[in-house]
Amino acid sequence: MAPSKSKDRGVLPVRVSAVDELFDKKGVERGSTLLVSGGVGTGKSTFCMQSAYNSAVAGEKVIYISFEEPIEKMQRHMEENFGWKVSKMVEQKRMMFLQIDPLELSESVKKEFEKKDKEDMQFDIKLPFRPDRLVLDSITVLSAAFAGGTNIYRMYLSYLLRTLERANSVNLVISETGEERIDKGAARVEAFICDGELRLHEIRKKDVKQNALEIRKARWTGHSKKLVPYRITDKGFEIFRRAEVFV
Ligand SMILES: Nc1ncnc2c1ncn2[C@@H]1O[C@H](COP(=O)(O)OP(=O)(O)O)[C@@H](O)[C@H]1O
Ligand SMILES: [Mg+2]
Repeated sequence: MAPSKSKDRGVLPVRVSAVDELFDKKGVERGSTLLVSGGVGTGKSTFCMQSAYNSAVAGEKVIYISFEEPIEKMQRHMEENFGWKVSKMVEQKRMMFLQIDPLELSESVKKEFEKKDKEDMQFDIKLPFRPDRLVLDSITVLSAAFAGGTNIYRMYLSYLLRTLERANSVNLVISETGEERIDKGAARVEAFICDGELRLHEIRKKDVKQNALEIRKARWTGHSKKLVPYRITDKGFEIFRRAEVFV
């Protein structure tokens, strides 16, 4: 099934605080991938889980794929920290969590790439249903599992995202940034193959620290260029559109 670029795909709201107001089209175009990037602990998983949960509450179908944290632990944190009734959404089959071992996945992908006949290559992640929204948490862990096979990782990631986009969902793909990161090339390729990028910053000045969100790219729409302060509270991720970054 080829994606038709001419068709009006429609836009899905992100449904996290007032983030949709930062996009001229008030959301993310279906069939697109939005990279959610930032340092450790900036709230990437919280942001994506909030988007996933609110979408399920609004009646969309959501799949959350975790390459790192066990899904039971993740679900429990979201219920305890923010009071989101995630398990209720799971029971109602609006939300589904899949845990995938990145090492197993990378091994099977490498094996597929060794096949002589490229027609025989088989490396789709089997999805139980067609989601409106899909989260990949995180591709940083996935790239680490491909250590020594950066080119295969790039080809696989690009193949995976294109396949997911054909399902016409909005894909939120988490990427962890940081100075400790060795594979800078992989970070660039992630940004390159995504339609948009939302960066979560932690800004420090002496002993003052502030978080701010920035839309770095959104191919489908015009968008705010501002650094927008945000906080994580017991209600989840909240942005302050009228506030300025003060540090
Ligand atoms: N109820 C809460 N109130 C305030 N902060 C919270 C609450 N629950 C979790 N956090 C904070 O949210 C931060 C972001 O966590 P997470 O989304 O897992 O980050 P990332 O995925 O970017 O590493 C954590 O540092 C944690 O301290
Ligand atoms: Mg996380």
